[in-house]
Amino acid sequence: MIILKEKILMMLKQNKDEFLSGEKISHEFGVSRSAIWKYMNALKEEGYIIESIPRKGYRLISSPDILTYGEIEEYLITDFIGRNIYYFDSVSSTNIKAKEIAPKEQEGTIIIAEEQTKGKGRLGRNWTSPKGKGIWMSIILKPKVDPTKVAKITLIGAAAVNQGLKDIGINSYIKWPNDIVINGKKVCGILTEMSCELNMINYCIMGMGINVNLDKDDFDEELSKKATSLKTITGNTVDRKKLLAYILNHFEELYIPFKEKGDISKTIEISKDNSILIGKEVRIIRGELEKVGRVLDIDEEGQLIVEYENGKVEEIFSGEVSVRGIEGYI
Ligand code: BTN
Repeated sequence: MIILKEKILMMLKQNKDEFLSGEKISHEFGVSRSAIWKYMNALKEEGYIIESIPRKGYRLISSPDILTYGEIEEYLITDFIGRNIYYFDSVSSTNIKAKEIAPKEQEGTIIIAEEQTKGKGRLGRNWTSPKGKGIWMSIILKPKVDPTKVAKITLIGAAAVNQGLKDIGINSYIKWPNDIVINGKKVCGILTEMSCELNMINYCIMGMGINVNLDKDDFDEELSKKATSLKTITGNTVDRKKLLAYILNHFEELYIPFKEKGDISKTIEISKDNSILIGKEVRIIRGELEKVGRVLDIDEEGQLIVEYENGKVEEIFSGEVSVRGIEGYI
């Protein structure tokens, strides 16, 4: 569902080095020149710098750092993931917004916000989401699979983030099941929520929070012990648009076999190859209960295989526990 404003933007982008006359654009889209003028003003309000010269026309000078469909579509190769985007400057939480619209929306629809005022983390925690600095988004999914399989979607999401980061030259680890870690600190978390009946999913919301260009003082003292941003790690501002599109591309590639055949073999391969937990001693936390064990593997169902000090081996189903390092976050 590409709206006219986005089509005009695409045309400007495709002709970046030349002026496009209002007449040519209005002819192309079958609307009046004054309508074109209004769309140009709307684009300027979004932060686009557009030069307009009488009798010559319009020329795009630069684009803002925003995560609209118009800005990411040139990098997107998906069929349905991210092809319908609801973009907000500020929302309470993209997961909350996604839940409101999910019943009527098609699979693959995304809610993106530049800022969340009540970003939600796992286990009722808050998620710091300052304006224009991260990727705060939720994907609406409607797989026809048993609700017990939904935890696998989190693994797909984590694998997609890991691969998207790789595409922009950043190596990361996956901390099963839902964190992405670099230099021992968290750069991304995933919160998957669903609405279901006994044996069918109505919809599933996969919320991703990626700390892209946050500065050190965006994190409070406590959080900065376990979280960081890509900018802090690389020392450079990271291109949010490319990263977002690459993650969506990988997500769709990994999600389709799951949705069609329940197949997550590629996801498991990525999860194992990039796991920060395999071979490590960890604390497995279930509410008040805490046990120490060594992570042996991730099995083909995406379960974590842990061997405890007494020699007992357990398969842990994602979502039922928290996994921590012996001394700290990892
Ligand atoms: C975690 O605790 O690790 C999960 C964090 C998930 C944060 C993301 S940001 C986008 C989406 N909307 C939310 O309110 N939360 C998720």
